[in-house]
Order: sequence, then C-alpha cells, then structure tokens
Amino acid sequence: MATEQAKNVEDVTQARPGSPCTIVIFGAAGDLTKRKLIPALYNLLHSKYMPEKFAIVGVSMQDYDDQVFRDQLSGEIEKYATTKVDPKLWDSFVSRVYYHAGKFDDPNLYSGLKDSLAKAAKEQGLPGNCLFYLAVAPQFFGEIVRQLGAAGLSQEEEGAWRRVVIEKPFGRDLDSAQALNKEIKSVLEEDQIYRIDHYLGKETVQNMLVFRFGNGIFEPIWNRRYIDSVQITAAETVGVEERGGYYDTAGALRDMVPNHMMQLIAMTGMEPPTSFDSEAVRDEKAKLLNAIQILSPEDVLTMAVRGQYDAGTVQGKPVPAYHKEDQVSPDSHTETYAALELHIDNWRWAGVPFFVRTGKRLAERATEIAIHFKRAPKLLFKDTGVGQLTANVLVMHIQPDEGISLRFSAKIPGPSVKLGSVDMNFKYTSYFGAAPSTGYETLLLDCMIGDPTLFQRDDMVEAGWRIVTPVLDVWKALPPRDFPNYPAGSWGPKEADRLIDRESRRWRDIP
Ligand code: BG6
Repeated sequence: MATEQAKNVEDVTQARPGSPCTIVIFGAAGDLTKRKLIPALYNLLHSKYMPEKFAIVGVSMQDYDDQVFRDQLSGEIEKYATTKVDPKLWDSFVSRVYYHAGKFDDPNLYSGLKDSLAKAAKEQGLPGNCLFYLAVAPQFFGEIVRQLGAAGLSQEEEGAWRRVVIEKPFGRDLDSAQALNKEIKSVLEEDQIYRIDHYLGKETVQNMLVFRFGNGIFEPIWNRRYIDSVQITAAETVGVEERGGYYDTAGALRDMVPNHMMQLIAMTGMEPPTSFDSEAVRDEKAKLLNAIQILSPEDVLTMAVRGQYDAGTVQGKPVPAYHKEDQVSPDSHTETYAALELHIDNWRWAGVPFFVRTGKRLAERATEIAIHFKRAPKLLFKDTGVGQLTANVLVMHIQPDEGISLRFSAKIPGPSVKLGSVDMNFKYTSYFGAAPSTGYETLLLDCMIGDPTLFQRDDMVEAGWRIVTPVLDVWKALPPRDFPNYPAGSWGPKEADRLIDRESRRWRDIP
C-alpha cells in the first residue's frame, strides 16, 4: 500500500544520538535481553542513534565469557531482530559486547565488574558514563543498587554520569513500593533512576500528548461538559505463557494496572504541561494520578471486578483453563482479568467515570483508549423515526493497529431520515509506514541522553499503588468464590458488564 505523507513534519525534540557510554545489562542471559534489549540497541545503531562509542557488558550467573556471550547473541539476533540484520553492522555491534559472570548478591561480582568496565572503556575509548539496566527478578532490584553503591559504581565522578534502569514490577503494593523507593534513593539521586514502563515506549501512547496539546480542536471539548465517560482496555489473547510462576503471585491487577493502565489514564486526563520538559510533564501526570479517588472497601465491592479464565477457544484454538497452566496452583485464586471504575477529583473530570479493563485470554488483542462523548439532544429528530442518537466515540488505538478513529452519525442515503454510525480513520502505517521496532528504542535512547520524561518518577509509582492497594486488600480478604468465571476467548466475566451497565453504559465492542 502506498504510504501517504504527513504534511509539514516538525521535529519538536530534535532527537540526537545518546552520549558515549557503557550499557551494563544485569540479567544478560534472560528473555528480555535477547527479545527486546539487544534488538532495540541494534536498531538504534542501525538508525544512527547509538553513540559513536559504546560498549555493552552483560552480567548474569551463567558461566560465559565475552566470546561465548557474543556467539550466543549472534546466534539469536536473526530470530528476534525487527529488521533484516546487516552482517557488517552486526559485527561492529557485537565486537563491543562484553560479559561478566557472577551472583547478584556477591560483592565480588561488583569488584570484578569494575575491572570489566575498565577493560571495555579502554578498548572502546569510553568516558566513565554507565547505564545499568536491571533486567532481573524484582527481589534483586534493591540488592543490586545497594551493591553498586557499596562498590562505588553508582557515584557520578569527573563529569561522568551513572544511571540505573529498573524494570517492573516496582513493588507489590504501596508499602513495598515505598520501601523500594527508599532503599534505592539511599544510594541514588532521583535523577539517576529510570523506572521503565514499556507502554510509554509505544508511539500511540506518546502521541496522546501531541494529539491533545498539538491540535486546537480537541482540548476545548476534553472535559466533563462534553465527555460522558472514558474506557481504557488492554485485552490480550495470550495466557500466562512461561510466566505462570510469576503471574500466579501477581495477578492481572498488579501486573497491568498500577503501571501501564495508570500511565494511559494519566496521558488521557492530565492538564497541559507548561513545556515538554521532563519535570513539567511528570508533574502534571503525578497531579492527575493523585486526584484519582481512592476506593473504600464498600466501593471495591461495586466498582471493581475480577475474573479468571476457564478453558475455552481463543481465535479458533482450544486452550486450557488458567488453573491448569504450567506453574499455576490448581486451586489458584489469582485473577487474570480486572475491571475498575475510577473517578478523578478535579474540575475537568468531576462526574466522568474512567472504566478500565484488562485481561488475558480474551477474544481479541487490543489496547485502546475510547473517549465517549455526550449524546446530542434529540430535538431535531423528534418527528422522524430516529430513536436513540448514537454518541460520538474517539478511539486511540494503541495496538495492534495503531491509529485514531472518530465515530459519528451520518444520514443513510435515501428519502427517509435514517442514521448510521460511520468511522473516520487514521492509521499510523498508512501515513508513516510500519516502524520496525521493539518498543524499547526510544526508552533506551532517552536513558543515554538523560531524558526521563517517559519514565516513572517515585511519586507516580506510589500514586499508582495507592489506588490499587485497597482493591488488593479487599480481594485478599474475600477470596473469590466463583473462579473460573469466564471462558477463554470471551470478553471477561459477566460482572464486568454489570459494573458498567449501572448507568446504561456498555463496554465498547472491539473491533
Ligand atoms: C507486561 C505484563 O508488563 O505487559 C504482561 O507483565 C503483559 O503480562 C504485557 O502481557 C503486555 O504488554 P504489551 O506490550 O504486549 O501490551
């Protein structure tokens, strides 16, 4: 398909390559490294956003050396790369990769790492800048940061920066998130900490700010006078795959809501920041998250719904029930679906419910933000056969087909007045072509540049947990009696329909 060209393209932030540095990946033998981080760093090299000088040092418990690690990455890259791998470029990439083995809680790892870093820096002609990426199980986050501090590796000296990227989950509830913040901040300054949320690497999520604040026509109607409700959906068709062990101790609410869903709510609801400056943007997001009403235990009973999938058929394929999945307890009470009704206590959003739902093994894979506008008064059509007028819906499609659509009513051609709903559709790929990316490129580049706009600040993480923890508490105190309560391949439990139905609303049909 021919790609239409966007008119008057403007590069607001003027992206530039990262500054020369060593990227140290803790958890180098893990899934995230091979599936996302290495392909993303390769893409950055391909698109000339890697600094001219860099090194990558993998750290994990496996007994590899530099060459074994290089060979392993070379054997895997074709499988996980999002573009065709150029052998010459890959050779140049992999020649800058090093490996250091050790146990994350062993101080010897860190003293040895200093030597590995010195060797890489000497061979690649690097200054002392280091980006430590913690792609490890969450119980190691605090430990690694503490050990980096004790070994003197986190100190920024002689103009060199030291930054630490922390993967999710950041805590299990409000208390543990606060404790982790306290622990890492006893070693690092807030501006050295990059709490990653991969949803913020998604183009359409970032586009929300441009859509809202770069266009004159939407912001005036982006409030309670015109908007009836907001629906945010993150639906997956996959089950727990090989992550049953982790997932069974987490559940859909913990796994998706305090982080990804809260970011989507914040982008949708925040006030315009005074600039694109990272603190200005993050201040507004934090303000919005802090304005979300905390649910009382009584509210949880009516405004939160959980579900767990039973056996069923997803896109034509039979799949087992959640409690039969690998590493999942047969009598598990863990939810694989969660829906919430949230309210935001500020002038813009008073009285506008935000309905949020996420789940695994649902009918379709779709992540979207749907803004449901208020209906027009039916005055003009009172003597025609037109019944209820359909409300306008603006949808930000985040995945899989990134784009924006607006649903409105149009007259069906013919002598009588009959209305139909039609869609005005903008698809990213039609205008800009398919961007072959892992979703981590922008985030990694931002870490190398030192731009934390797309990362979670301590107060944002805690605000997310402040909203979710009361729900977790009630759910823990009242174990579900009806699990499993939705068949795989459906749109979730019936209770979720009742949650939204109270004021005659219904979940949007997807697609
Ligand atoms: C992760 C969750 O953070 O996000 C997974 O741990 C989930 O359970 C994933 O599948 C969804 O990400 P995406 O980018 O596929 O929507």
